[in-house]
This record gives sequence, C-alpha cells and structure tokens, in this order.
Amino acid sequence: MTIRKLFLLPGDGIGPEAMGEVRKLIAWMNETMSTCFETDEGLVGGSAYDAHGEAISDSDMEKAMAADAVLFGAVGGPKWDDVPYEQRPEAGLLRLRKDMQLFANLRPAICYPALAQSSSLKAEVVEGLDILIVRELTGGVYFGEPKTITDLGNGQKRAIDTQVYDTYEIERISGVAFELARTRQNKVCSMEKRNVMKSGVLWNEVVTATQKANYSDVELSHMLADAGGMQLVRWPKQFDVIVTDNLFGDMLSDVAAMLTGSLGMLPSASLGAPDGVTGKRKALYEPVHGSAPDIAGTGAANPIAMIASFAMCLRYSFNMIEEADLIEKSIANVLDRGLRTGDIMSDGCTKVGTTAMGGAILDELKALSA
Ligand code: IPM
Ligand code: MG
Repeated sequence: MTIRKLFLLPGDGIGPEAMGEVRKLIAWMNETMSTCFETDEGLVGGSAYDAHGEAISDSDMEKAMAADAVLFGAVGGPKWDDVPYEQRPEAGLLRLRKDMQLFANLRPAICYPALAQSSSLKAEVVEGLDILIVRELTGGVYFGEPKTITDLGNGQKRAIDTQVYDTYEIERISGVAFELARTRQNKVCSMEKRNVMKSGVLWNEVVTATQKANYSDVELSHMLADAGGMQLVRWPKQFDVIVTDNLFGDMLSDVAAMLTGSLGMLPSASLGAPDGVTGKRKALYEPVHGSAPDIAGTGAANPIAMIASFAMCLRYSFNMIEEADLIEKSIANVLDRGLRTGDIMSDGCTKVGTTAMGGAILDELKALSA
C-alpha cells in the first residue's frame, strides 16, 4: 500500500477547529478505504511564534518540504498585532509558499445550489457559478525587493514595496491556467493593470504570447483588474478561468469567495512545478478564509473550506478523483439537507457548529461509500 505523508499545520484561530474535522475524515479513510495516510503535525503562525519565537521553525519547514502534501489551517490574530514584522504570523505562510516554490494557487469558486440564497448577490447571478482563479503565488509585490520603510529625517518616512515579474514567472502561471481551462470551459481571462503598471504591460504581453505559442485552442481575453473586480460582482458566470498576479489574485479571490455565500466555503491548492525525476509536485492546501479570531474557540467555525481543501489534496496530489468527488458530493448533500454554520445560515435551515457540520459530512461520506 502506498504510504502518503501529510503534514498538518492547523495554525491559529479557527484553524485547529477546522483541521480537527479533516483529521476525522483521514482517520476514517485509513480505517475503511485502502488509503494509508501518515500524518505529522507542526506549528505555524502565532502559535509557532509563541513556542519558538518565529512564524515557522526550520524543523517544521523541513517536514513540510519532505511531505507529500501539506494541509494548512489559518494564521494570525490580534494577539500577535505587535510582534516584529519578520516574525508576524503571516510570515510563516509566506515562507512555506516561497521555500516550497508553490507558484500556482488554484482558488475555485463554486456556488453550491443550496447556497445561492445566502450570497449577498441575487441568486440568479451566482446559481451554478463555477469559476477558477489561478493566482501567481511566489512573485510580485509580496516578495519583490526593495521592501522597506525609511526614515527621511524630516519627520517623514517613505515606504517602498516592489512589484516585479520576470517572463518565466508569467509564462509558467499562464501555462497552468491554460492547461486547466482545457479541462473546463476552455476560456481564460487574464487580469492586470497595464494602464498604470509596467508589470501589467509585460504580464499582458507574455500571457498573449504563451497562448499564441502553445494554447491557441483556448479562448483568451484580457481585463484590467479593477474592471475585473467589477465584472465579478456584476455577472461572474461570464468567467471560466481567471489568471492574475499575487496581489490582484489575493483581492479578487476574496471577492469571488463571497459570491459563493461565504469566505468559509472556499478551498485552495498551492502547487509547485512537477519534479523532473518523480513528476511529483510540492503542494499545500488551505482554505481561503483567515483565522477568524472573533469566533475562534466557540465551535462555530465553518469547516467546509478546510474539508474541501482536503478534497483538492486528494485530487491534485494523489489523483484520488473518486474520493475527492465523494467528499464534494457529501458537502453538497449536507447543504441540501439544510445544515448550516452561522456564516451561511438562512431562514428555515438548521444552524450547527463545527463538529456537527464535520460529523454530518463524514456520515454522508460513509453513506455514499457504503
Ligand atoms: C490569502 C491570505 C494571505 C495572502 C495572508 C494570510 C498572508 O490573505 O491566502 O489569501 O495575502 O496571501
Ligand atoms: Mg487573501
């Protein structure tokens, strides 16, 4: 039996509660399906800072690098507002992305039929929505140098962040977007700000050239990122795959998340390039939502994005398509039956907490696999 090594990094806030529900799924799969997941666990974010004074330790970093896949919860919270910038909770996540070279972030926004009513947009706008945001994750303004705050000595300070992209970075992320589009509606919309930013000019040029050279069968359109944000809330169903840079992707994926009813619904996969020898990609799976410190520890968190992130892990890291489909179907069925956590609650539904939602999804999975 193939042993699959999962490294769990629950993190802060609601991360551990959400991860708890995934742990139950893993345990059940190991017991009853022919899977053999080996799990190990580490600290990231504020919890790692409290334990070792940094947002992720070198030894946990090594374990993440050695694992077949990393499952990540969430990081941050007001408790760590005053820690030094280099040690802030988010630095742990950014180091994982950078050191593991996870350049491709896949953020699917799917509106489950049962949730069309709980979106802040009209049901007809979001019903049946299925878009995929492909966000560049290891470049751009997140990592560009210089990144400084300088005291100008006259009572003024100057802050600098650097937006930087090389051709190869744009080529490889657009390649991922075009490949994925081929498995879907075959349409890619690239978003940048070429009207103000040089990086936008290059982005547009390279995406266009990549399509021409290797993906002329895929339909390509371009949008300025601000207009793209507007179109996402006006008529999101016009999109299939959206490819964009690190910062725009961060913002646009939060917008897309709300279309699906709640930030608590959106999973994501962060993938590296396939290894030249083994063909395996380094990968990290995480919900798009944050640590939600306001509800942490109350048992009210929505575990669906975390569970759906595990389903993405089965799909992309282990090619366990059937199992991934079953988990996604279990989520849909539980929602159809009217079970809701607080963030997606609507009239006539039954409000449940984290463990009841996770338990119901597991029960549904058991029933579907019986
Ligand atoms: C995300 C988050 C992160 C980001 C934070 C936690 C650093 O917002 O994954 O979308 O900005 O990328
Ligand atoms: Mg974000």
